[in-house]
Amino acid sequence: MPHAVITGATSGIGLAFARHLAAEGYDLTLIARTRSALEDVASVLRRGGAGRATPWSADLASATDSAEVADHLRAQTPDLLINNAGTLIPDPFPDHPLEAEEHLLDLNVRAVLRLTHAVLPTMLGRGSGQIINVSSFCSVGLSAMGSTYPASKAWLNAFGQSLTHAHRLRTRNVRIMTLLPGFTRTDLFARTQWNTSHLPTWMWLDSDRVAAVALRDLRRGRTVCVPGRRYRVVTWGLRHLPPALLRHAGWDWSAPRHLWRTPPTVE
Ligand SMILES: NC(=O)c1ccc[n+]([C@@H]2O[C@H](COP(=O)([O-])OP(=O)(O)OC[C@H]3O[C@@H](n4cnc5c(N)ncnc54)[C@H](OP(=O)(O)O)[C@@H]3O)[C@@H](O)[C@H]2O)c1
Repeated sequence: MPHAVITGATSGIGLAFARHLAAEGYDLTLIARTRSALEDVASVLRRGGAGRATPWSADLASATDSAEVADHLRAQTPDLLINNAGTLIPDPFPDHPLEAEEHLLDLNVRAVLRLTHAVLPTMLGRGSGQIINVSSFCSVGLSAMGSTYPASKAWLNAFGQSLTHAHRLRTRNVRIMTLLPGFTRTDLFARTQWNTSHLPTWMWLDSDRVAAVALRDLRRGRTVCVPGRRYRVVTWGLRHLPPALLRHAGWDWSAPRHLWRTPPTVE
């Protein structure tokens, strides 16, 4: 049985990956912080006919937990690693405490670096292995947001691009794909208290579809995946249109005209 490790596997896009891979017969290691949610997901997947579904409670923003997970992955390297767990800060920098910003970097960047560093030597030695790093469409071009979230995800894009072009990976059948989803209906926005109720319906993607497209594109050998035609057009524009044209399209979420940002509460 092929083995996949999915971080952030109890909800949203990570859970959708888990369902798809379970249906394909993968043995799964499911990582998130909340033990009860992990056990629920693992038992549902097992009942649905998955191979082994092993829950692992770890806070990947913590240096101790992520090092422990990395050690385990070094010893038992999966066929597929999905670095999906992530968080966002909707408020503009520097309105949040520094600890919150560091937590975001620890989870969105440092944990991905650690886990990828842990699995690559064995994947290269075996001559096979796949990694999906979950970024975001908002990390492309000038979509500034005024927050550090796109910057953290832009690191994943540059990381993936740089490794993808490395001679060693290309010649040893090890693939890294960066996934850039658009707005996807998940718990992320409720968790991070970001009011998205004013976003138009057409902007929303379904997490199940995002995971299905990502797995399809991984198997087609793509190194970057942007699910949804609308978002492919948007990301193409953000990448290729002249900066002068895009200057006014930069999204400063802190600007009052952006209705979907929750107004700060005044004590
Ligand atoms: N939803 C979107 O519109 C969207 C768009 C673009 C990109 N993305 C990216 O897609 C990825 C998944 O997002 P989602 O929307 O599916 O989020 P979600 O529904 O909030 O799920 C997040 C998952 O990550 C786990 N998690 C959170 N913090 C963790 C930590 N410190 N250590 C370990 N696990 C942790 C959560 O479980 P616990 O809380 O129990 O740990 C949960 O399983 C993220 O990287 C996000 O940035 C999302």
